Formats: sequence, C-alpha cells, structure tokens
Amino acid sequence: MQTQLARDLGLEFPVFAFTHCRDVAAAVSKAGGLGVLGVAGHSLSNLKMELEWIESEIGDKPYGVDLLLPTKFVGSDRGGLDAEALDARIPAEHRKFLDELLAQHGVPALPPDAKLAPEFSVGYEGQRDVIELVFQHRIRLIASALGPPPAWMIDLGREHGVKVAALAGTVEHARRHVEAGVDLVVAQGYEAGGHTGTVSTMVLVPEVVDAVAPTPVLAAGGIGNGRQLTASLALGAQGIWCGSVWLTTEEAETHPVVKQKFLAATSSDTVRSRSLTGKPARQLRSAWTDAWEDPSNPDPLPMPLQPRLVREAQARIQRTAHKNEGAQQLANYFVGQIVGSLNHVKSVRTVMEEFASEYADTMERLDALAGG
Ligand SMILES: Cc1cc2nc3c(=O)[nH]c(=O)nc-3n(C[C@H](O)[C@H](O)[C@H](O)COP(=O)(O)O)c2cc1C
Repeated sequence: MQTQLARDLGLEFPVFAFTHCRDVAAAVSKAGGLGVLGVAGHSLSNLKMELEWIESEIGDKPYGVDLLLPTKFVGSDRGGLDAEALDARIPAEHRKFLDELLAQHGVPALPPDAKLAPEFSVGYEGQRDVIELVFQHRIRLIASALGPPPAWMIDLGREHGVKVAALAGTVEHARRHVEAGVDLVVAQGYEAGGHTGTVSTMVLVPEVVDAVAPTPVLAAGGIGNGRQLTASLALGAQGIWCGSVWLTTEEAETHPVVKQKFLAATSSDTVRSRSLTGKPARQLRSAWTDAWEDPSNPDPLPMPLQPRLVREAQARIQRTAHKNEGAQQLANYFVGQIVGSLNHVKSVRTVMEEFASEYADTMERLDALAGG
C-alpha cells in the first residue's frame, strides 16, 4: 500500500482520517495513517490546546487539519457580515417554526449558565487567525473544504513544507483547486457524510484522477473497509479519506444517543439536508431532518444563517437527548451511507488493522483471478 503520497508523508497506510475528535486523530496517526482534525467550530484557545495534545500523543508521527473555507455564503461579496446583520436576515417565521418544533418535542430550554459552541466561522479573513495558528504547529497537511484555499494559504504551505489539499465533489472543483495550487485533491462522492455533491464516488474518483494528473488524489465517500480501500487504489487514488467510519469507534466523542442510532442504522437511513449548515450535508435522518424536509415548513436558510439559527436548538437537543424522548427523536449528526456497515464499536487501531488485513486478502483474491 506504499503509494507515493504515503511515502512522501511517512505513512504506513494511505488512510487519511477526517475527524472533529482529537483522540481519533491521534489514534489514527499512531496506527500508521494520518489523522486530520476538523477545526471548524473550535475557538482559537481551544484549538491550540487540541493541537498541543495531539502532538504530545503522537510524537513525530504526521497529522493534519481541515477547515471549512466556503466561497459562497450570505455576505460573501462583502467578506462576511457581522452578527447583527446576520440576525436581521433570519426571518421571524423560521424562529417561530424552530421554537414550535422543540416545544412539540418537549425539549427544555438551556439553563442560564449554559455555554454554546463557538460561532460557525466563514470567510478567508475570518479564519486567518486559525490558519496562522495551525502553521505554528507541526502539521503536515492542511485541507480546505467548500472552496479552494486562498493563495496566501498555499504560500504558507510551501514555506512550512505542509501539503495543501482541497475537497472536490466535481471535476470542475478539482480543476479549480489544482489551478489554485493545491498539492492533492480529495475527490469526495455523494455517499459521504457531511457536505457533499451529487456525483458518486465510483464515478467521481477516476474522473478526477484523469482530470488533474499527475496531482495525487484521495478517494472519499462511502469507504469503510479494506475492499473499498483496494477499489479506491484501483480507481487511481493514492489513498482514502474517511470520516464516517470513525464516528462509532471507542475513541469518538459522538453523542452516545447518536452513536447508538448510527450502530442501528442502515445505509438507507441518511439524507442530504441543508438543515444544519445551510448547504447540503449528508446526515442521519431523524425527526429533525423530517421536519425541515416537510414542504409545509420553512426551507432551511443559506449558510451561515442556518447554523446561526439552529445553534441553540442543537445545544438543547444534545443536552437532553439521553433522558428526553423528544430530544432523542430529533438528535442526529453528519454521517454517510457507510453507516449501514457500522454495527459494532471498535477501537481506531482495530479499524486500521481491518483495513490492512482486508486489503491483503482482496489483493490475494485479485492476484488469483489474474493468475487463473
Ligand atoms: C461528522 C462529519 C463531519 C464532517 N465535517 C467536515 C468538515 O468540517 N470539513 C470537511 O472538509 N469535511 C467534513 N466532513 C467530510 C469528511 O471530510 C469526508 O470527506 C467524508 O466523511 C468522507 O465520506 P465518509 O463519511 O463516507 O467517510 C465531515 C464528515 C462527517 C462524517
């Protein structure tokens, strides 16, 4: 499994793990892959602590970070809007619908001292501090999602010897990223958890590999076992980029109620919905997504209005989902179609070992076919 990209980054396996959980990122890097911490939703001080913790855990093993850098969002023509301007754009009808949805499900209000997660940040300038902070650490890779990285981020990558990646859901995205100067492209198909386009991984990966050669490509979306890893290499990818498979690991900080829902879910139980971030993102179907899909209810707002609107409601649901049936029905999270194969809690190391052993078995089977 020693692809050129794996050799360049000093990896034992070309397995790239996207995660919002530092324990998962560290465990993947320790097991020979590359843990990539999603930094969206971290405050600067918290992020610094997380990166320092990962570095203390993994020693000189490589790791990376990922940012959401959307090019199109409400106010993007002005480099973003302040909180007051965003609030003024949230219709009263949406606030009323959300209040009623939570009331119908009996979800209690937050206690007065409850803290909300940090604000969803968009725009290059709004995230400059974050990008400068991560470059003060020993990252080996930085990835940009929802748009190409700015030129100054590519320059910082070159200066620090850090590979710059970008996620692509179409060939056009991939070409744009390469024109911007990225070192590798993550071709992420429709099956994926999180923000996703409409082209399947099976179709997208070879298209992108051909379109951007010789730039290396990672396959993403619906990959959770060694057969899918081997298939990705067969499609021309230099490795895999997975997100969902880590969400049911021992190390993952997935909400316990949602983890149980993931373990029970089938591959038909996800939906692409704008109800959490304002852009289409694959997540587990729940009473939350059903309500936002219902044509008699308001449509989700565009990014970043929707995350601003639902931030408190989501905190209320998560705080009480373990004891309140209504909150439990609403609870969900981003996950891809591979959720149907996530039926047991395993350690990250076990997942990595299974990737490797199933890859070896599959290669043996294919060798026998070729020889026979
Ligand atoms: C819970 C979750 C959160 C995600 N958040 C982000 C994110 O902040 N930035 C990003 O680039 N990708 C994000 N993604 C997408 C992953 O980077 C990755 O492309 C995707 O999970 C691959 O498909 P898979 O879920 O089938 O493995 C997220 C995915 C999941 C499951």
